[in-house]
Amino acid sequence: MKFTILGLAAAAIALSSTFVVHAPASAQGSGAPFTLAQATLGQKVFAQNCASCHGANLKGVSAPSLIGKTSGIAQQTVVEVYEYVSQQMPMTAPGSLSKAQFLSVVAYILEKNGHKPSARPLTEAVATSETTEIAAHP
Ligand code: HEC
Repeated sequence: MKFTILGLAAAAIALSSTFVVHAPASAQGSGAPFTLAQATLGQKVFAQNCASCHGANLKGVSAPSLIGKTSGIAQQTVVEVYEYVSQQMPMTAPGSLSKAQFLSVVAYILEKNGHKPSARPLTEAVATSETTEIAAHP
């Protein structure tokens, strides 16, 4: 009995993660593919690792602005920004953060650009396939 329940739970998890990765964004209800918890963690990651150059408000200091419709990343996709950030940033120590930190900082950038969190986490599989643009189109 215990095994059956575990088996069912595992099947449910497998099914739900398949759904998250493969279904088009439009079929998944409202919100972008990141959770509120990720955006909250991302805010801390950003403050500690990015704000010195990009500004606490993301509006840019010595580095470009990462917020608003006129920023250089506004029309870039999640894939483009995740790959750039995880490979090139922080400028002085590229690749120095964990995968979870890079994913959460992208979640935070999405939130600051007008996207709403959802129940779907920004996993690496999503971050390397999601074509949503950084600036939300309300
Ligand atoms: C030491 C300063 C510095 C730090 C720290 C830093 N960046 Fe950058 N970042 C830059 C500079 C400078 C550029 C512009 C590079 C270029 O144009 O070649 C840049 C570019 C970017 C871009 C592309 C902007 C565009 O318009 O295409 C993104 C996205 C970005 N950074 C995100 C981050 C994130 C997220 C972090 C923290 C994990 C971070 N950066 C930390 C200096 C920094």
